[in-house]
Amino acid sequence: MKRPVGVEALSIAVPRRYVDLEDLARARGVDPAKYTAGLGAREMAVADPGEDSVALAATAAARLLRTHSVDPSRLGMLVVGTETGVDHSKPVSSHVQGLLKLPRSMRVFDTQHACYGGTAGLMAAVEWIASGAAAGRSALVVCTDIARYGLNTAGEPTQGAGAVALLVSEQPDLLAVDVGLSGASSMDVYDFWRPLGRREAVVDGHYSIQCYLEALSGAYRGWRERALAHEVVRWGATLPGEQLARILYHVPFCKMARKAHTQLRLCDLEDAPNAPATSAEAREELAKSAASYEAQVASSLTLNARIGNVYTASLYLALAGLLHSEGAALAGRRMGLLSYGSGCAAEFYSGVVGAQAAARMARVDADAVLARRERISVEEYEHIMRLPYDALESLSPGADAFRLVELRDHKRRYAEGSAA
Ligand code: HMG
Repeated sequence: MKRPVGVEALSIAVPRRYVDLEDLARARGVDPAKYTAGLGAREMAVADPGEDSVALAATAAARLLRTHSVDPSRLGMLVVGTETGVDHSKPVSSHVQGLLKLPRSMRVFDTQHACYGGTAGLMAAVEWIASGAAAGRSALVVCTDIARYGLNTAGEPTQGAGAVALLVSEQPDLLAVDVGLSGASSMDVYDFWRPLGRREAVVDGHYSIQCYLEALSGAYRGWRERALAHEVVRWGATLPGEQLARILYHVPFCKMARKAHTQLRLCDLEDAPNAPATSAEAREELAKSAASYEAQVASSLTLNARIGNVYTASLYLALAGLLHSEGAALAGRRMGLLSYGSGCAAEFYSGVVGAQAAARMARVDADAVLARRERISVEEYEHIMRLPYDALESLSPGADAFRLVELRDHKRRYAEGSAA
């Protein structure tokens, strides 16, 4: 019998400051409803130069090992998914290994493909364990990023920063992945990119949404074909997508999850065998079902709405938010997960929530992590955004958080604050 493989535990890290999006809207002369209702966002994390992708990754990973009492000698692989690393050569994962004093006998590497990089790392870890090559060892996968578009741009309200660390093992207390069912879709497009040497991304915003939806359709149909063949879902009184208890999406801004869900339903409505002859307009109306969105998607967006886009980590923030609020009720239920990275690649996979999910999530204490943050004014946010990357504030690291404290000859030194 195949052993289950998946996510045993997770942990999150966020910058110490955030800006309220109604404040930002007023400062930009925009109706606040555009950001709150139009994009579905409430708050946006603001990282200062000391809170780089290494500091955030190390903070999330250290919290994971500490709060879930993980013996580092269990680990055989450390993967960091990021598109905002700190060096073209030395990986973020090497920094994390050093800062956490992890064993030398591990595979350590970064994975990059825009926001899909974290899922690429997770799948490498899951399939390494499922293949038997891990020989009982576990993997640590960390998704870390700082989403930056620049002041006064259309992308500005869709920034954010943070990290999610995932422990992957044969004891999937949070999510047992359906290995072998996932569907992928990729193509060569210029929807979003960040040329070498730039901190701000360049984006063709409306086109990026089209690319996301097109890639989603391919990835979902690929998963559905395999899930139907394995009788995980079936064409019947309900659509295959409706047979998933919840569906988590990559969340660059919360409204995108609503658009994604409509697209996924449209795939089912268009492909359903023996479907009543309905017009394309009628199918589009059915696809938009508010009830379906509320039942399958809305409850996963609480953390995303308060942190913003975290590129590689956004899907896993949705997982954390969902299991934080509904872990107990969802035990034993199957979920779908859609990862998207610009450029572009999408992967749709599924997994079953573990019986220990609620107990594991109670240790993450996501409410306390958010409550420790400081709300700053738009002026303070703009000041931080204008700081050069090496202008390190003389702040001491926050409770159980790492912080970049020195840059000398491009060598980076980090310090850790004492536990809360
Ligand atoms: P925009 O052009 O400023 O906004 O940029 P808009 O005019 O499209 O309005 C946004 C929504 O607000 C619309 O709703 C408006 O109707 C509504 P929709 O029609 O889409 O449902 N609206 C209002 N609602 C209520 N009251 C009002 C009001 N006014 C307008 N008064 C855009 C929006 C998302 C394009 C921009 O923020 C952007 O470029 N963001 C960055 C790109 C992005 O996030 N793309 C998402 C897909 S690509 C992806 O996810 C990958 C990524 O994460 C990167 C990676 O992979 O590494 C980005």
